[in-house]
Amino acid sequence: MVEHAPQDGEALPRRREIRSFVRREGRMTDAQKRALDALWPVYGVEAPAAPLDLDAVFGRAAPRVFEIGFGMGDYLLSRVVAEPQHDFFGVEVHRPGVGRLLNRAHAAGANNLRVASDDAVVVLRDWLPEALLDEIVIQFPDPWHKARHNKRRLVQPAFAALAVSRLKPGGLLSLATDWQPYAEHMLEVLNAEAGLRNLAADGRYVPRPPTRLKTKFEARGERLGHAVFDLAYRRLG
Ligand SMILES: C[S@@+](CC[C@H](N)C(=O)[O-])C[C@H]1O[C@@H](n2cnc3c(N)ncnc32)[C@H](O)[C@@H]1O
Repeated sequence: MVEHAPQDGEALPRRREIRSFVRREGRMTDAQKRALDALWPVYGVEAPAAPLDLDAVFGRAAPRVFEIGFGMGDYLLSRVVAEPQHDFFGVEVHRPGVGRLLNRAHAAGANNLRVASDDAVVVLRDWLPEALLDEIVIQFPDPWHKARHNKRRLVQPAFAALAVSRLKPGGLLSLATDWQPYAEHMLEVLNAEAGLRNLAADGRYVPRPPTRLKTKFEARGERLGHAVFDLAYRRLG
């Protein structure tokens, strides 16, 4: 079949972007559904028409931590509760995880959390201005094991440049994975990014950060005999 060719003046279709996730709704509990309905207006952030003013979103100016792919939100909630002086912005496309986090954040009386349920790459690129994050956290990103799927991995050179641009100078990028080939790929990509400095003494992995909780992904990796690799970088400048 011959595809319809765009005519003069007709917008060219935007090339479909490669995404690091597949949207699977999964089973949502009644509590998660209720939380999404009732608490999204409190914690949820929708796509803005212009880059977000995070001081306005949080109602104050405080150090800001951005977590990509928070899963069920256990780590994010632990930091939200332990660090009330910091503001936390989490992004996750898996809606049951968002519902669970909202429920627990509300129960904890948290007001230093905001959540988006969208592609984190789009949120970083289109929603956030440059140089405003103190920390970006990425824990156990989908490893995309098969060689033909490796291109779907979140951490790629273009993503590294985007993350650098959204961090403040001196800001921290921390990552963890239990899939060694992805850990090596992260090292290769991030060590090559001129705007970042690897904080490991040998330029490779850092010790486990004390704030990193053991999530079910890590526990499953351990059962499969996988080691966990932690990486940490600072934005230069
Ligand atoms: C393997 S899980 C790990 C979850 C959590 N960080 C943990 O350690 O338990 C990866 C998560 O990242 C989310 N994810 C992947 N790519 C994403 C993207 N571009 N934007 C938002 N979430 C994403 C997936 O939906 C999934 O929940």
